[in-house]
Amino acid sequence: MARSKRFDRLARRNINKETFVEPWPEAGLIVADSPYDPAPSLTMRECRVQEMDGRLCEDFDALDRFIVAHALDLAVAPEAMALPAQEYARMLADINVPRATIARLVAGCTPAKLCEIMRHMTVLEMMTGLAKMRIRRRPANQAHVTNWREHPALLAADAAEAALRGFAEVETTVRVARSAPLCALAILVGTQTGRAGVLTQCSVEESLGLRLAMKGLTSYAETLSVYGTEMTFTDGDDTPWSKAFLASAYASRGVKIRFTSGTGSEALMGRAEQKSMLYLEARCLLLVKGAGSQGVQNGSISCIALPEALPGGVRAVLAENLLAAMLGLEVAAGNDALASHSSIRKTAKLMLQFIPGADFIFSGYSAVPKRDNLFGGGNFDAEDFDDYNVLQRDMQIDGGLRPVREDEALAARKKAARAIQAVYAELGLPAISDTEVEAATVAHSSDDMPARDILPDLAAADDFLDGETDFVAVIRALQARDFAGIADNILEMGRQRIAGDYLQPSAIFDADFRVRSAINDANDYTGPGSGYRVAGQRWSDMQAIPQAQSPAGFVEPHLGGTISRLVELGAAAKGSQKEVVLALGPAFGRAMGFTIGGLAHEAVLQALLTGIASEGGLARIVRVYHSSDCAAIGYVGARLSGSGIGIGLQSRGTAVIHQRDLAPLNNLELFPQSPSLSLATYEQIGRNAARYALGRPAQPVAVKIDNGARLRLIVKTALLHRRETDEVRPDTPPQELRYDWEPSL
Ligand code: 5AD
Ligand code: CA
Repeated sequence: MARSKRFDRLARRNINKETFVEPWPEAGLIVADSPYDPAPSLTMRECRVQEMDGRLCEDFDALDRFIVAHALDLAVAPEAMALPAQEYARMLADINVPRATIARLVAGCTPAKLCEIMRHMTVLEMMTGLAKMRIRRRPANQAHVTNWREHPALLAADAAEAALRGFAEVETTVRVARSAPLCALAILVGTQTGRAGVLTQCSVEESLGLRLAMKGLTSYAETLSVYGTEMTFTDGDDTPWSKAFLASAYASRGVKIRFTSGTGSEALMGRAEQKSMLYLEARCLLLVKGAGSQGVQNGSISCIALPEALPGGVRAVLAENLLAAMLGLEVAAGNDALASHSSIRKTAKLMLQFIPGADFIFSGYSAVPKRDNLFGGGNFDAEDFDDYNVLQRDMQIDGGLRPVREDEALAARKKAARAIQAVYAELGLPAISDTEVEAATVAHSSDDMPARDILPDLAAADDFLDGETDFVAVIRALQARDFAGIADNILEMGRQRIAGDYLQPSAIFDADFRVRSAINDANDYTGPGSGYRVAGQRWSDMQAIPQAQSPAGFVEPHLGGTISRLVELGAAAKGSQKEVVLALGPAFGRAMGFTIGGLAHEAVLQALLTGIASEGGLARIVRVYHSSDCAAIGYVGARLSGSGIGIGLQSRGTAVIHQRDLAPLNNLELFPQSPSLSLATYEQIGRNAARYALGRPAQPVAVKIDNGARLRLIVKTALLHRRETDEVRPDTPPQELRYDWEPSL
C-alpha cells in the first residue's frame, strides 16, 4: 500500500505520541459505567443501613463501613435516593436551582447514585454545574515550585515570583527526601517575600510532612491519598480511619488539610476490582467527606494519562471535580501532571475547569520549567505564563494569575534570594554566595545556577529537622538582617495557625491576611449577573499584560514623508490615450508617507511609474478623495483611463489593477498582502498594468504568501485605514496630479 503523505504527517504529530487504548472493564480500564459497577440502592431499617449499592452490610468492606458510618447523611438519604438521577442532573444544569438545594440532597446519595447522576450530563452541563457548586466564590490557583538541583536561592526566587503572579498556594517536593526541611524553608521565605499569606506545603512522606508543619515551615497538606478499593488501602498500609486520624493530627496543629484522590489510581495499582474509575472516585470522595476533610485534590492528578488513554477520560475527570464540589468539598482540580504532548489537547482539557472556575484551577501549575518540575513535569509551566495571562484576558475569566512586569519579578526574586541567604547565614546553614543570589534572580531554570555541593545542605537539613530550630528562629534571622517585612509575614502565618480561620472550607488569604473561604465568600452563582464576576481593579490588572501597546503608537511611524513634487492640478478628466491611470488614496504622500511595510510612498510611486515606463506605457496620476476603499480607488482610475486600465493604491500599500469593464468589486489583479510587497513587486505591478493597457498578455505578478501577516498586522491595518479614511472628502471629485520625475530606464 502506498503511504499517504498526509497520514504520514499526522502520524508525526504530538497527539500521536500518546497512548490510546480500548476499554477493558475487567482491568478497571474504563472511566465510567463499568458493566460491573453496582446500581444505586440503599436499604435502611430503624436508621441503620442494611444494604448499600447492592451489597449487604455483612459483606461491607472497610470503605462501605466508613461511608455509612461517617459520610452518608442518613436523615436525608431516603429522600435523596428516591429522587431520580436525571432530576439531580437537571438541577445541576439549571441556573435557577441554588447550590444549597442540591447540596442538601447530595449528602444522602450513595457512590453509585452519584455516578448515575453524572451519566446524564454532558461536559457543558457539568461546567455549569461546577460554576454553581464550587464552594468558594472566587477561583484561585496553586503552583508547583521545585528544581532538580534543590537550590535554596532558586526555590526562594521562584516561590517569590509565583506569589507575585497570584498563586494562593505554593507546593514543593523533593528529589532527595532529606532535602525536605530546607526546601520547605526556601519556599516559605520566598512566598512571603512575593505576597503575604500564600499558603505553602512540602509534599513528602506523611510523618515527615507533619513534622515540617509542626515546625511552622508549611501551612497546608494535601498528601493524604485515598483510594476506592480496600486492597489499594491495605497495600498502602492504611485505612480510611488512619487517614482520618492523620488529617486530624494536621488540623489540630492549625494546618489546612486536603485529601488527594482521583480516577485511575486503583487501576494503576492493579486493584480496581472491575469497577469504573468514576465509581471508585465517588467512593473516595465519600471517604474524604467522612474523614472531615475540608477539601480534596482530585482530577486524576498523577494518574491523568490513564483516563486520558481511554474514551471519555477528560469528561470523567470533570465529573469527579463536580462530584467533589457537590459534596461541599474544596476542589483542587488537577491540571497539574503532564497530561498530553499536544498543546491543543492540554489546553482544551484545561478549559473544562478554567471556564467554570474551581477553588484551585490547577492543583499545581508548574511555576518552573518542565525539567525542573519534580512532580513529573507540569501540564502548564513557567513557559506558558504569558499564554495563560492572555487566556484570562481573552475570555475575561479569572484563572487566579496576573501579569507581572519584568522589573517587579526581578525585584521580588532578588529580595527572596537575599532573604534566604540571610537566613542561612544567621542559622549557620551552608553559605549562599552573592553569585548564587545574582544567578537565582535572573534564572529561568536550574541550568542557570552555579554548581552547589548538595552534601553539606543535606547534612544541615538533617540537623535542622532533628534540632529545636523552627520558624521562630527564621523570623529572628530575618529581623536581624533587615528583612522585617518578610519576618512579619512569617510571624503572621504562625499566628494564623493558632487562630485557625484558614481551616474553614476552601480558605485562602487575600490581601492583609484576610481569609476568603466558602464561609465568608460563599459561591452564590445562580446564572447571569450573579456570583463572581471579573470586574473593576481585577479586570484592569488582568488586561494590563506588559505586551499590550498603546494603539496610537501604531500609526505614528507611517505619518510624515509628504511628496512635495506631487502637485494637484484640479479635477481629473477622462483620458483618451492607451494610458495607465495611477489612482492614489486620499492620504497617500500627504497625510501619510509610508506603507504598512515601511516603504516610502515616493519610492512606491516611482517603482510603479518605472514599471509602466519600462513597458513603454504612459502613466497619469490622480488622487481619489471621496473613498479610501482600495477597489473604489482602482475603479475610479480605470474609468478615468483612456485604456480602461487603472491601478488603485492605498496609503497602507494595498494595490489593485482594475479595468473599466469589470464590476467595481472585481479586478484584474489584487495585492491585498501589502506588508509582503517590495519595490520590485510594485514595479512588476506597473509593468503588468502597462501590458494590459497596451493589449499585451501578462503573467499575474507572483507575490509572497504570508499567512501570518494579517494576524501580526491587523491592528496596524485597521488604524492605518482609519487614518486614511479621516482624509476622505465625500464631495471632492478625483484630482489630476503632476509628478515631475523621469524614470531612468
Ligand atoms: N489518587 C490518590 N492519590 C494520588 N496522588 C496522585 N494522584 C493520586 C490519585 N489519583 C498522590 C500520590 C502522590 C501525590 C502527588 O499525590 O500519593 O504522591
Ligand atoms: Ca497539588
